[in-house]
Amino acid sequence: MSSLLAFSLLLGNALSAWANPLPRQLPSFGTLKAAAAPRYFGAALGVPHLMNFTHDPLFDVDAVLQFSGATPENEMKWMNIEPERNMFNFTGGDIVAAFANANDYTLRGHNLVWYSQLAPWVETLTGEDLWNATVNHITTVMTHYKEDFVLYCWDVVNEAFNDDGTYRENVWYTQLGPDYIPNAYTVARSVNSGSKLYINDYNTEGINNKSDALLTVVQSMKAQNLVDGVGFQCHFIVGELPPDLEQNFARFVAAGVEIAITELDIRMNLPPSEADIIQQAKDYTTVVNACLAQGEACVGITTWGITDLYSWVPSTFSGTGYALLFDDNYVPKPAYNSTIYALQGLA
Ligand code: G3I
Repeated sequence: MSSLLAFSLLLGNALSAWANPLPRQLPSFGTLKAAAAPRYFGAALGVPHLMNFTHDPLFDVDAVLQFSGATPENEMKWMNIEPERNMFNFTGGDIVAAFANANDYTLRGHNLVWYSQLAPWVETLTGEDLWNATVNHITTVMTHYKEDFVLYCWDVVNEAFNDDGTYRENVWYTQLGPDYIPNAYTVARSVNSGSKLYINDYNTEGINNKSDALLTVVQSMKAQNLVDGVGFQCHFIVGELPPDLEQNFARFVAAGVEIAITELDIRMNLPPSEADIIQQAKDYTTVVNACLAQGEACVGITTWGITDLYSWVPSTFSGTGYALLFDDNYVPKPAYNSTIYALQGLA
């Protein structure tokens, strides 16, 4: 089958699935996992999704066959894992980690120090007390996962910058100053967990004030052997990708770190138009190619979910969605097809 014909058939499937759910039809172009190897191709997984497994055999098949990586969507965040001081609840994180390890997925730990989904008690702390609680959190969480599971990496600090390149004024910055960032990595390194240490952010995918600031901190921490990788989230709007993804990724690689696409999705206005569905397929190709252009230094790609059914997008950006590779009915989109081609270096 020609690629154009295959593409048109998938587009037809996607459009009719939106209007009138069809039985799922897996195309015969291989899997994301196989096409991405030796890189991983992951997805954010949440317990609400995993718990529907037995009701949803299609998910079971897709998760195992299509993907080779996982990031817990919410389960390892501070408010869930240490809701009260020194009272740890690993239940949700362990469910995702056990699933990932059982299926030989590359598991990303997400995350340790983030202003959002932070337990409220942390924001009441000051000075040394805040720092002691942070050391305890990083150490306890990383030690738990080191002992019971295999994690490829940890997002140690998440979303530390504003779009203008200044530091985000979270509780750590206001209480402890900018050194909280390298200090958090020093603590994480001292756990000696075997997991790589990442810094992860959004709106840093192109060259701009925010990615400039991130690069400066990465260069400094790399010189001290504190950081191993940079995660580019890639929450995009269809047709609005930064034009210089590849050049920006390259300057981080030149700093000596590996990189990963960590939270990819490409949203559009609903209902999706034919033009946007085609553009989305092109945009996924662009992202994959920007990763491939970095050679081994781009180690994997993670989409922020498997199916639109569980995507964070519609509840956050009202009137938009259709951002992932599988629609609400697990029907693969043209973007799925274009991603598989691109992963094999064919696009
Ligand atoms: O768990 C509660 C539930 O008890 C309650 O009934 C319900 C009512 O709204 O809320 C539930 O919490 C929600 C939580 O997800 C778990 O589903 C929160 O409202 C909701 O805000 C939260 O959203 C998450 C968001 O991070 C928070 O910032 C999304 O699921 C998650 O996909 C998203 O992930 C982030 C990455 O971690 C970092 N980068 C950006 C990305 C997208 O925002």
